[in-house]
Amino acid sequence: MVWTKKDLLALEDLTKEEIEHILDTAGSFKEVSTRDIKKVPALRGKTVVNLFYEPSTRTRISFEVAAKRLSADVINVNIETSSVKKGETLIDTGRNIQALKADIVVLRHKHSGAAAMLARHLNIGVVNAGDGWHEHPTQALLDMLTIKEKLGKIKGLKVSIIGDIAHSRVARSNIWGLTKLGAIVTVCAPKMLIPVGIEQMGAKVTNDIEVALKDADAINILRMQFERDDRVNFPVQLEYFKTFGITKERLEKVKKNILVMHPGPINRGIEMSSEVADGEHSVILEQVTNGIAARMAVLYLVAQGK
Ligand code: CP
Repeated sequence: MVWTKKDLLALEDLTKEEIEHILDTAGSFKEVSTRDIKKVPALRGKTVVNLFYEPSTRTRISFEVAAKRLSADVINVNIETSSVKKGETLIDTGRNIQALKADIVVLRHKHSGAAAMLARHLNIGVVNAGDGWHEHPTQALLDMLTIKEKLGKIKGLKVSIIGDIAHSRVARSNIWGLTKLGAIVTVCAPKMLIPVGIEQMGAKVTNDIEVALKDADAINILRMQFERDDRVNFPVQLEYFKTFGITKERLEKVKKNILVMHPGPINRGIEMSSEVADGEHSVILEQVTNGIAARMAVLYLVAQGK
């Protein structure tokens, strides 16, 4: 496939073939991280700027590692010491980064649509590293890469996404990506954390954790995003753990080879017990490792886009 898109903004925008192409490209980049010298020259001479307006551990480091493994130069903007603090707008910041001859901006922002807006104003590539409640496309790509690697396929698998669906860009990107690739996706949460219209994206909905776990090949457990709603629209934590939390006892009744996933950071004792987070079914740290290859693929492809 010849890649033509200069930006990666949302999995909603991509075809099944485009998503598969990213996953195949990621698969071929995985080997680079196993070498003694973990580098290929694919993006030598290119500059990637990480522009993160929200906190991040995994995504920011992973994009930096990915870009460096492709031999790109990487600049991490510290928002706290940047002119954003003097009131500079996102578009002006982006235009200045473009004037400094960067090739790709990786943007995390608290507002849904921020990456798409920036992409409309720049000629250089924009990669969405999470925009508000909208999408986190590279998280879903690394999730799908992990499922494919562990279970050999995605088509026909049953994947349950459990937890704070309402505030989750990870849920939205996973629903778009997994359903396009033929998985059967169920979302599970208390009613207050199920957004209106989620079925129209192709997901089944349940408020019963036993239904979500029954026959699931993989469960993707989401963090309670307390920071997004001032702790107003959330269930009581202990009550949530009792009713929806994933425990060793709950996993005793499910498929033997079920994958336990979480995008991180985990609220241990709220979404799942530590026993489960660190247990035999958990692929949480393998997801993090796969983030490097997924982001290498995205950076490599958008660098070829027009
Ligand atoms: N999964 C994820 O986006 O984690 P960070 O917020 O640490 O980047």
